[in-house]
Amino acid sequence: MRRILIADALAADAPRGDITICGWVRTRRDLAGCSFLELNDGSSLSGMQCVVEHAGAACAALGGVNTGAALQVDGALVPSPGKGQRWEVLTRAVTVFGLADPQIYPLQKKRHSDEFLRGIAHLRARTNKYGAAFRLRSQAARAVHEFFHERRFTLVHTPVLTGADCEGAGEMFRVAGPTDNGDGRGEEFFHRPCRLTVSGQLEAEALAMGLGRVYTFGPVFRAENSNTPRHAAEFWMIEPEMAFADLHDTMELGEELIRHVIERVLARCRDELGLFDAFVDKGLVERLAGMTAEPFARVPYAEAVRILEAGGKDFVYPVVFGMDLQTEHERYLAGEHFRRPVIVYDYPREIKPFYMRVNDDNETVAAMDILVPRVGELAGGSQREERLERLGARIAELGQNPADYWWYLDLRRFGSAPHAGFGLGFERLLMLLTGMGNIRDVLPFPRTPGNLEF
Ligand code: 4AD
Ligand code: MG
Repeated sequence: MRRILIADALAADAPRGDITICGWVRTRRDLAGCSFLELNDGSSLSGMQCVVEHAGAACAALGGVNTGAALQVDGALVPSPGKGQRWEVLTRAVTVFGLADPQIYPLQKKRHSDEFLRGIAHLRARTNKYGAAFRLRSQAARAVHEFFHERRFTLVHTPVLTGADCEGAGEMFRVAGPTDNGDGRGEEFFHRPCRLTVSGQLEAEALAMGLGRVYTFGPVFRAENSNTPRHAAEFWMIEPEMAFADLHDTMELGEELIRHVIERVLARCRDELGLFDAFVDKGLVERLAGMTAEPFARVPYAEAVRILEAGGKDFVYPVVFGMDLQTEHERYLAGEHFRRPVIVYDYPREIKPFYMRVNDDNETVAAMDILVPRVGELAGGSQREERLERLGARIAELGQNPADYWWYLDLRRFGSAPHAGFGLGFERLLMLLTGMGNIRDVLPFPRTPGNLEF
């Protein structure tokens, strides 16, 4: 007997005959003479139809078996005479691992709302939609790693605990040591305040200045109290950093990365994307395919502001030169004006962090944001300030102490070189790929203000 995954049993080249499969019952239908169990083990969107004849020995095990029960089925894989599936298993034996009482099992055979399923995040991976979302998430992560490895980037693991504040926006979670009396300053343990990182960029820069091309891909944390469909307190960021590179190189890299991930996911997640296209976001597959075919638009910030002013839209936040773009502006640019992803670059220096390279006009920095339809900001990056004096002055200008950044300044003191990178929010990318409108639905266990269940 071979225990195989349902995805493998359903593959075109799978050997037929005796198999063993395991999974959870999605539906049970009892007809005269036999029962049909739809079994799903999470390996694919499609489950396996298992036919249990009432006259056979396996039938005795079916007592109490309902939606949600975990089973092993031994039987013969044969072409299905029925409609809706190509293969089915003629069941010889059923082993019940665990039943699910239909009176209290929350996932009954009907459509549940996203809100309801968020409340049972520990069970929602057993639904078609969330199973698809998390398989797609896995394939997207795989595509990210392939992309960088194919280009000789070295994967680096940057720390989660940090003493530095990369973005300087004061939105960091404080970490308390075991003997701190609740003040959260972490001083007992590290002899200095400790925070959860908001970005691995500063450490990635240090590693790029030895390894050349690096990327980090891991969890980051933001304590901003913005309860929006696009912000999470814990999310995953992809951060490449390249030595001997400029702003233009990061734009190229960002565009290629997004296109690459879309292509691989289109090729490997057909069933999952089909589900999202049908039930979440009509036209999704066509739109994604379109993004791989057409180059992204590129405009300087000043031009983007002119476009927004000329658009005649009634924004909640009216556009004025010098302000940071709001989500409504980002969505207008990508979704309505360009109708494709757009890279906005050369932002005013006042609204950007200290590490971005100041342009020759002294007014703007070599920054870029990648904006996409529906989601808004997907990635943000820059060429880094590599000139020691300038960088020290910028840190001081933004009210921070250059002495705290001694090691970061050392990178400019010894063998400084132009370098550049960006951060891409992985969940924002997944929102683009799935059409899901809420970041809480592409994270298995989302952390947002007021939510730390599971
Ligand atoms: O634009 P951000 O803040 O850039 C940085 O942190 C840089 N240090 C990155 C770098 O240059 N290495 O964040 C980067 C991306 C955003 O474009 C957005 O996609 C995502 O991270 N992001 C969030 N995603 C989910 N929830 C949040 N609260 C997010 N904040 C930012
Ligand atoms: Mg940003």
